[in-house]
Amino acid sequence: MAGGIGSRFWPMSTMKFPKQFQDILGTGRTMIQQTYDRVSQLIPRENIFVITNKEYVGLCALQLPEIPEENIVGEPMMKNTSACNLYMANKIAQINPEAKLVVLPADHLILKEQKFIAKIELAFKLVSENDYLVTLGIKPTRPDTGYGYIQYLSNDTDEVFKVKTFTEKPSLEIAKTFIESGDFLWNAGIFVWSCKSILSAFDKYLPEMVQQFNYCEYNSNAEGDCIDMIYPKVAKISIDNGILEKAKNVYVIPADLGWSDLGTWTSVYQNAEKDDSNNSLNSKNVLMYNSKGNILRLKNKNKAAVIDGLKNYIIVDTDKALLICPRDNDQLIKDYVLDLKNFK
Ligand code: GDD
Ligand code: MG
Repeated sequence: MAGGIGSRFWPMSTMKFPKQFQDILGTGRTMIQQTYDRVSQLIPRENIFVITNKEYVGLCALQLPEIPEENIVGEPMMKNTSACNLYMANKIAQINPEAKLVVLPADHLILKEQKFIAKIELAFKLVSENDYLVTLGIKPTRPDTGYGYIQYLSNDTDEVFKVKTFTEKPSLEIAKTFIESGDFLWNAGIFVWSCKSILSAFDKYLPEMVQQFNYCEYNSNAEGDCIDMIYPKVAKISIDNGILEKAKNVYVIPADLGWSDLGTWTSVYQNAEKDDSNNSLNSKNVLMYNSKGNILRLKNKNKAAVIDGLKNYIIVDTDKALLICPRDNDQLIKDYVLDLKNFK
């Protein structure tokens, strides 16, 4: 899934050039390329699909020349992740009704790749034998309101748990109680299911969307026009809200993956190198006085900057925009971007 615009990551991530197509951590590979590198160890490249906005199909093809062009699927508009999952499940089920899917966001950091592969293999085994919707669960470290929270039922094994409750993006207060209670995991947003199981969950929980997508004939010349026709009417809802919060057959595999959703400036801050005052700077031309816990990113690294008395802030300077925002408010940046649209 690579159709988001990464608006919490403004101004580095923009509509024209979203973060999944950028080398956020300076590794030499963009986020989507790293996702490809990871999953291609497990899945033959002809079975790897990307679903993104039409606007980014060219960028995807350029960054992922290994994938057959017809596997890079464009959506006419952003409808969040229920629509793109239903689209792909329909398309792939038409090719192979028995297919099993691993669904990956294109913008995650995973340091422990071999563990990731082992967990996905376990999940494939589970969904081959059962009508399960499987997600990977991460041990939470803070009451972050940007994630889904999974409460699970204990059992004798520690490999996989039945999900008791799934709460997408709770308020800070609720997130705090989840963290204190101890038996919650973060939803990593990495899902494994069979086409059959996810299509039957859509039948149950989003039947109207299923009817809309049933108009189309997949893998035919008419597919694109039909998708263009139905998309404006399709509901804009995440798969977490649309399916996972409601389904009764969700299972979680706890996974220690060195995982981070590089979704916000704070997550980049946490994964970046820091100096003795815990500042993460990308330029040597910055003088910091009495300042700590800041992340500063300058597009023009030759620009001189002096910062005095600033604590726990995000400062990002690009050609077109400047952001100065407390790190604690990083979830609000997506709202600022919406406000900015109306700012003349
Ligand atoms: N094709 C397509 N179309 N992709 C999309 C769209 C869309 O309309 N909207 C978002 N995506 C892609 C994003 O690019 C990203 O790779 C992935 O789908 C997930 O979307 P996000 O917008 O990043 O979701 P989130 O981070 O707020 O929440 C999800 O991930 C968290 C973990 O990172 C949820 O699954 C949470 O429960 C989870 O904790
Ligand atoms: Mg995300």
